[in-house]
Amino acid sequence: MSKSECRLADKGAIVTGAGRGIGQAMAVRFAQEGARVAAVDIDRESAEATAGLIRDGGGEAVALAADLTRTDRIEPMIEEAVSFLDRLDILVNNAGRVEIKPFLDVTETEWNQVMDLNLKGAYFCMQAGARQMIRQGGGGRIINMSSISGRHGRADSSVYAASKMAIISITQSAALALAERGILVNALCPGVVATPMWDHIDEDRARLFGYERGTARARLVEKIPLKRVSEPEEIAAAAVFVASDENTLITGQAINVDGGMEMN
Ligand SMILES: NC(=O)c1ccc[n+]([C@@H]2O[C@H](COP(=O)([O-])OP(=O)(O)OC[C@H]3O[C@@H](n4cnc5c(N)ncnc54)[C@H](O)[C@@H]3O)[C@@H](O)[C@H]2O)c1
Repeated sequence: MSKSECRLADKGAIVTGAGRGIGQAMAVRFAQEGARVAAVDIDRESAEATAGLIRDGGGEAVALAADLTRTDRIEPMIEEAVSFLDRLDILVNNAGRVEIKPFLDVTETEWNQVMDLNLKGAYFCMQAGARQMIRQGGGGRIINMSSISGRHGRADSSVYAASKMAIISITQSAALALAERGILVNALCPGVVATPMWDHIDEDRARLFGYERGTARARLVEKIPLKRVSEPEEIAAAAVFVASDENTLITGQAINVDGGMEMN
């Protein structure tokens, strides 16, 4: 791709949870589109692997290890990233975790583990990222990873669903708060994406409901109009548009990227 064809040329981007799955696909694709990328993950080795993939493809990347449930790690992570990127144009709050557990059995520890990452981590990353964007003169794009689980309650993943519904709320609030600074804030709602997270969901549901492995995924795929699982690269393709300067008007939205599972 020539530089003029790159849709994120000269942008500085942070992607959290970039060590694998959707985060890795977004980090790699952003770099292919010309962005310099900070690949952030709790797991240093996997962040390094993603940065390595980007460099092997001729892109520019740095790997940063940070546990984003630790709010004291967030400002330093943004600072470290910006010292490599020069500026922050795109922030993707993608790191997340899921717990498959019947509603009646969820513990306070499990509540905290999910909420501390999916919601609190994303909120304070947005705050620190937006402060940086404002310090450098405003303008920017923030993407928060919600889910189709943010559209309904879920009996076996109630805390996850709550965190992803709340992501839509904080996305709308931040979009309102940051509009005058030229920062557009949106959420993506993927459906069933082929990543290690979905392997984990499938295994947990198989154990919980006495299914064969693969059954939980197959049952959901039946309900998808396109009748297939999504690939992480397809979520990354949507993220490129939302993060790019081509997106001049979309803010405060939760966009389903799910093969038609949800239509509201
Ligand atoms: N896979 C799906 O079908 C699907 C569907 C809808 C939404 N999502 C959302 O998309 C995002 C990515 O999902 P995925 O399937 O790629 O997940 P994944 O579990 O495969 O990858 C998540 C990444 O986040 C990192 N991470 C975990 N805890 C962290 C922490 N405390 N600090 C920093 N990084 C941490 C992990 O090391 C991992 O690299 C998540 O927010 C998830 O909820 C996924």
